[in-house]
Amino acid sequence: MSVTILGIESSCDDTSASVIRDKYLYSNIISSQEVHKAYGGVVPELASRAHQQNIIPVVDQALKRANVDKEEIDAVAFTRGPGLLGSLMVGSSFAKAFALSRNIPLIGVNHLQAHILSHFIIDPTKPDKEVPAFPFLCLLISGGHTQLTIVRDYLDMEIIGQTIDDAAGEAFDKSGKVMGLPYPAGPRIDKEAKKGNPHAFSFTKPKIESLDYSFSGLKTAFLYFLRDKVKNDKDFIRENLQDLCASIQYTIVDILMEKLVLASKKTGIKEIAIAGGVAANSQVKGMVKQLAAENNWNIYIPELQYTTDNAAMIAITGYYKFIQEQFDDFDVTPQARLPY
Ligand code: KG4
Ligand code: ZN
Repeated sequence: MSVTILGIESSCDDTSASVIRDKYLYSNIISSQEVHKAYGGVVPELASRAHQQNIIPVVDQALKRANVDKEEIDAVAFTRGPGLLGSLMVGSSFAKAFALSRNIPLIGVNHLQAHILSHFIIDPTKPDKEVPAFPFLCLLISGGHTQLTIVRDYLDMEIIGQTIDDAAGEAFDKSGKVMGLPYPAGPRIDKEAKKGNPHAFSFTKPKIESLDYSFSGLKTAFLYFLRDKVKNDKDFIRENLQDLCASIQYTIVDILMEKLVLASKKTGIKEIAIAGGVAANSQVKGMVKQLAAENNWNIYIPELQYTTDNAAMIAITGYYKFIQEQFDDFDVTPQARLPY
């Protein structure tokens, strides 16, 4: 039996819809909201309004691109949380209306599980893609979360370490903000860092023995460091931007990798995946490759279009939930915080 899933993602500032048939991706449409740029961060009220404007055209385009009629959709999967409540409401209301009108199952998806399962999205033109074998370790690094997870099966995951304050993406974005870079600063820091010296400036790393992360101390240290330097030389940031980006990126990535190595040693798992927006970072990818060679890991790095928020990851998670008949009632509510 073939299963066709419509996936909807609206947890933050991207409205996205995707069609997946069995494990194969038929379409993945993403409309990124530009409206937040002027504010240096996502404005929740503006995000939900933009989702409302985008959702129908985005779903329409996803169906057209997939060449699938809405009568062929077997279930609707949507992001139930975590995320911005107003934004999640738009996606969940749309999903409910669609499922109700077609009398098909509704599947609420955890956004973080979906980031991890993005490794299982198969492009029909590359059917032989290698996917992680269970159990594997996944380092999920996004704008809102930083987690180390043991993935025992598609829907059987255990968090073994996570941030106690800021997420890795926030560490990038907030460091960028104090340097005057536009939001989100992660990709820009990545670009500038390529031309800088990662050892030009050094910042202390947090001393946490467990598998948990912390980034807020680094953010504060960076802010005070810049404040002192700018006091003596107002052009300090502009003149040292590349070295600053390279050094702060080096420190963030070093913190991320130290715990990943520790998690692999503690669990004995050598199947290693990364996921989430920060997995797009070139130094993260470079370091994971280097560590793979040193530690005999099999590594899985998602394709760029599946690292940042997208509905394809929601649809593939919906597919695996459909197979296990994990459906939701129509009174299911979105949750800003949603454990798995
Ligand atoms: O997973 P994602 O799209 O959204 C959330 O669920 O949060 O992640 C967005 C985060 C932002 O903090 C952004 O700055 C960061 O991913 N990011 C990067 C890069 N591309 C995106 N950080 C560092 N280097 C990149 N190349
Ligand atoms: Zn995300």
